[in-house]
Amino acid sequence: MQLETRSAAECSLDELIALLQRGFEDYMVPLAFDEAGLSKIIVADDIDLGSSVVFVVDGFSAGVALIARRPPRCRLAAMGVVKRARGQGLGKRVMPHLLQAAADRGDTEFVLEVIASNTPALNLYEGAGFVRKRSLLGFEAPAVKGIDVGDTAGIPQPLDADWAVDFVQQHADPDLSWQLDPRNLSSLDDLSYFRVGEAVGWMAPSEHGALLGGLVVHRDHRRQGEGSRWLDWVRAGFGHDWKVRAIVPDRYEDFFLRNGFKRGPLFQYEMVLQS
Ligand SMILES: CC(C)(COP(=O)(O)OP(=O)(O)OC[C@H]1O[C@@H](n2cnc3c(N)ncnc32)[C@H](O)[C@@H]1OP(=O)(O)O)[C@@H](O)C(=O)NCCC(=O)NCCS
Repeated sequence: MQLETRSAAECSLDELIALLQRGFEDYMVPLAFDEAGLSKIIVADDIDLGSSVVFVVDGFSAGVALIARRPPRCRLAAMGVVKRARGQGLGKRVMPHLLQAAADRGDTEFVLEVIASNTPALNLYEGAGFVRKRSLLGFEAPAVKGIDVGDTAGIPQPLDADWAVDFVQQHADPDLSWQLDPRNLSSLDDLSYFRVGEAVGWMAPSEHGALLGGLVVHRDHRRQGEGSRWLDWVRAGFGHDWKVRAIVPDRYEDFFLRNGFKRGPLFQYEMVLQS
């Protein structure tokens, strides 16, 4: 098997989309890549196409690895091998190449997320030296009517996005997952931000119910019920089902469980390799 790598920057978006589609065929969560969606995550997640690679085996494109960068950290944002080339050692041959390229760039920490039940990928990454740092959880909650939100009841009004992003950047905790990092927010123009008291949270568009993107309480007002109040308000105000993607560090689990959410059907491991 003759393996070559090609910079993803030399590929058209269409080529990358086709390869991602095939690389994630039969994936545990159905993924549909399109130009708008890929362009959006390239910007929001800081995916660097120049550092991302297409694997070419015996002349055909057999897989792709998208690399995001926030020096000195980088992230394996997506890795997929086309179905007919899986299980033949390609992933294993590609990993050292990715790690060497990261070292050559001067990146000192390599992170990735993997769905906990994705045994092939988990084995591949552990075999390459990545270790599990923590779990990233998702949550969901059914619509509720009539939560008692006292004299502050009413439908929250959307905030100016620039103000909200500034607030979030100022008050967010450090060491969030890559996709929860406030740096992801500035380029996303389809989020709606809401403020209740000293808490600011945001919602993303979703086909089913509402996707809660994140929630940040002012640093001086923590542990005073502000976050819970925000959740009660928006749940009462909007009255639909809620989902939170599996990108939330496990230290926030109690907060969601105490506020009427339950764990979503799958979770991820955040894995890290330090040099
Ligand atoms: C995960 C994926 C990238 C692995 O690539 P691959 O080329 O098939 O993997 P390899 O043949 O190089 O296998 C390397 C190691 O991965 C693990 N692995 C691969 N397939 C496996 C399977 N079916 N079951 C268990 N472990 C498996 C093993 O540890 C293997 O090493 P070993 O053969 O010495 O035991 C590939 O299966 C894929 O594209 N899956 C769909 C997309 C996906 O899940 N991407 C990861 C998202 S985080």
